[in-house]
Amino acid sequence: MQATFLEDGFLICEGFASAQECADMIAQADKLIASFDETAHQVVFSASGQSHTASDYFMDSASEISCFLEAGAVDEEGRLIKPKTQAVNKIGHALHDLDPVFSHFSRQDKCKDLARLLGLSAPLLLQSMVICKQPFIGGEVNSHQDSTFLYTAPESCIGLWLALEPATTANGCMWAARGGHRAPLKSRFHKQGDEMVMTALSDAALADCTTPLEVDTGTVVVLHGRLPHLSHENKSATSRYAYALHLIDGDSTYSEDNWLQRPAELPLRGF
Ligand code: FE2
Repeated sequence: MQATFLEDGFLICEGFASAQECADMIAQADKLIASFDETAHQVVFSASGQSHTASDYFMDSASEISCFLEAGAVDEEGRLIKPKTQAVNKIGHALHDLDPVFSHFSRQDKCKDLARLLGLSAPLLLQSMVICKQPFIGGEVNSHQDSTFLYTAPESCIGLWLALEPATTANGCMWAARGGHRAPLKSRFHKQGDEMVMTALSDAALADCTTPLEVDTGTVVVLHGRLPHLSHENKSATSRYAYALHLIDGDSTYSEDNWLQRPAELPLRGF
């Protein structure tokens, strides 16, 4: 498993979560969506180019459970034009600390063992989210490296991406650039003064994501922090829920200019 991960930059672990665990997490995500006040927080998910209000909502989500809407779910004034159950793009980013169902799943021995196997000497649970990819509206995610957003020195970010439902090319599964993690980190998304900016670190283009990662419910895809990956929009009639948990090594230095900063009352924790 270690050799495959080092070679490909990703690792597919089938049957990592049970059907019941996945069903419980979907039910919990739907509960969070049902209790989301979309009139108070009409925030479309975007890593850049947001209004100040949207930006504050995004930054605060480091230590909250926040829902972000699909771009196609709101009109020009930001009013919802789709049913709420179909409109949420993702829920994040502190589910693993604040939500009982996701916290329970994330801190099991099997996750801890996987983190150790992947070489994290002092794993910390940094960020978690449910990505909904609702039918017909689930938006695309452009090719990126996760270390761009979750930077440590030395780099240590690893993503555990769990399919809560089958992910196929039809409903917007992930695509990866096999071996592309050996190229340099292309950019960093970081705080500069009062705003977040994207700074290029390398001129080289990201390797093309030509490998579709079609996986069944319960499969975890481990993603190296430098692995280019993307997903297309979901044009199908079935949703593609996934739970993503990002880990870093506590022995690395976490950058103070990363977007995700925890307040003193909710420090990062390990397993
Ligand atoms: Fe990612």
